[in-house]
Amino acid sequence: MLKFIVMSDIHLSPEGVATNGLDTTRRLQAAIDSANTNHGDADFCIFAGDLADRGEVPAYEILDRLIDQLNMPVVLTLGNHDHRDRFKQVFGTLHDDENGHIQKAIDVKGYRVIVIDSSEPEIVSGVLCETRLSWLAARLEEAKDQPVIIVMHHHANDLHMPVDQIKLQESDRFRDVLKTHPDIRQVIAGHVHRQTTGLWHGIPLTTISGNHYDVNAHLPGMPGQPLRLDGPAQYAVVLADEHSTLVHFHDYIHRHAEMADGLFGKRRRHADDGAEREKVAG
Ligand SMILES: [Fe+2]
Repeated sequence: MLKFIVMSDIHLSPEGVATNGLDTTRRLQAAIDSANTNHGDADFCIFAGDLADRGEVPAYEILDRLIDQLNMPVVLTLGNHDHRDRFKQVFGTLHDDENGHIQKAIDVKGYRVIVIDSSEPEIVSGVLCETRLSWLAARLEEAKDQPVIIVMHHHANDLHMPVDQIKLQESDRFRDVLKTHPDIRQVIAGHVHRQTTGLWHGIPLTTISGNHYDVNAHLPGMPGQPLRLDGPAQYAVVLADEHSTLVHFHDYIHRHAEMADGLFGKRRRHADDGAEREKVAG
């Protein structure tokens, strides 16, 4: 059986600098310890972007040092908080595809797992340019007879939360490419700091809370603003065989303490009544 881990939204900062009040280096260490203890038999671990909170070289150096402790191969891609050039100052071209994007396709135990780089410099929402859409189409075409799992940073579907303002742009083009393949088993994303699962044009989609803060379910009709909680910190464990593709949610920090205001700006009503939308950071 295929088993792999997805971590996301690590949001590392240079040593001694908290990220929105949390020590993300310590949280990543806890995640790695948990993965090694509980899932040392995993085939690999994917880090689905927002590796560094402000894209600093020292943060990527911490990542480079800590992921060495994982007892499994590591696959990286970028999120909107990352800085492509500074990432490459630390990792070189090790994680590049032929066009310099941080993405790859992995064939393992009958599956094709495709990790997509949906980040674009200076843009908070997700972007898949023509080059990346063509790359994805080609990777899907090669694997017509294999089930496929996609992992990327940005969510493609509406969660009916303020964070939808910064989802993948032109997501119907992404959907159209996915629809060329007969057996997409999952599209797993981070970015939203929230655990969700659903179906989008018949495609199963999942988001995970990730390593940094967790956002409560701030849904249409709820007053106020989304709350940030300093747990659960979470990674996904994917288990897949011929007939079944499962995403488990492994919480390794369970605190549900409400964090201080600030990230989402002043408290405002939820935006579906036409009021000004909350500022969201993703
Ligand atoms: Fe994030």
